[in-house]
Amino acid sequence: MSKFPILAQSFQFVIAYKPMDKELDWSNLSFGYIPTDYNVRCRYSNGRWGEIEVSSSEIINMHIAATSLHYGQEIFEGLKAFRGKDGKVRIFRLEENAARIRSSAEGIKMQPVPEELFRKMVIEAVRLNARFIPPYGSGASLYIRPLEIGTSAQIGVKPSEEYLFIVLVTPVGPYFKEGFKPTNICIMREFDRVAPKGTGRWKVGGNYAASLEAGERAHKEGYSAVLYLDPKEKKYIDECGPANFFAVKNGKYITPASESILPSITNKSLMTLARDMGIEVEERHIPIEELAEIDEAGACGTAAVASPVAEIHDLDNGTKYIVAKDGQPGPITTALYNKLRGVQLGEEPDIHNWNTIVEGI
Ligand code: PLP
Ligand code: COI
Repeated sequence: MSKFPILAQSFQFVIAYKPMDKELDWSNLSFGYIPTDYNVRCRYSNGRWGEIEVSSSEIINMHIAATSLHYGQEIFEGLKAFRGKDGKVRIFRLEENAARIRSSAEGIKMQPVPEELFRKMVIEAVRLNARFIPPYGSGASLYIRPLEIGTSAQIGVKPSEEYLFIVLVTPVGPYFKEGFKPTNICIMREFDRVAPKGTGRWKVGGNYAASLEAGERAHKEGYSAVLYLDPKEKKYIDECGPANFFAVKNGKYITPASESILPSITNKSLMTLARDMGIEVEERHIPIEELAEIDEAGACGTAAVASPVAEIHDLDNGTKYIVAKDGQPGPITTALYNKLRGVQLGEEPDIHNWNTIVEGI
């Protein structure tokens, strides 16, 4: 049953069929962009959202003075569709992403995409690209990337009057090439990705631009991600590159409470699954020094899923926090990862009603 009312919009098709050159190697996909058949678009102008358009073009035409190009009016989302054990296609927690992109839009004065429009376009993008949904058992999934941009011309710094909302999809493998194997991450005080009361709580493109220099330096030195500290005091853990951070300490799941991090839907799901398993959950400040007392740690997000952390190196003072003492993922991280994957793949009952099943594909 749809959680949203049916939209009146009909679809306009702009079609050029693209055959898949060769069969994809589903089990060895990286987290990269692979062209698919269609994307789905909708424009906002004259105070209303227009018709949904299905396009086979990977290109957009845009005004050279568009606010997204000059003043960063760009927001996006990330969610996944999975081919399950029973052959059905499930999209994970679509309503949560619809709510978060609304919050992001309000945060930087963009026109919010109505939840029912978001839902309809996401489902349609998945349906139209069904042949790119990786098979069950491959470990891969169809990554769904909705994005919204300000398109009208402004030279004064003010919000756009027109917007374009696009949903594109691409099949992906693991975000960290190591997959579900512990990797090292690092603390680097030279860069913040967001300001204390800035845009970190929203999924704004500029946050990611601000993380590129630190991210590239970290990768060059062999780290999978940067563990950001709170930008105000640099005393507490904030988040881990494009993912939230969690740790396990004395059997409890602990994760930062912070106004400068993105409210991760994966983290929220892991917290619920942890409570279901009888694991206590604490959302609170985590001082850096507490890293010396944790038994497990992970980076969690749609792309990262729940990626275990081996060691955390503080590059400014040389401290090394050895988290995975035996180099293996910890038992609670493993149990939570398996449970989450199980729900997404239809191997476990979906008791919280998180999945939207896409019928007929
Ligand atoms: N934090 C940041 C900065 C992210 O980019 C992401 C990815 O979306 C997350 C956390 C994880 O959020 P989610 O679990 O909703 O994908
Ligand atoms: C996601 O996990 O969906 C993200 O958006 C992270 C991405 C920036 C790679």
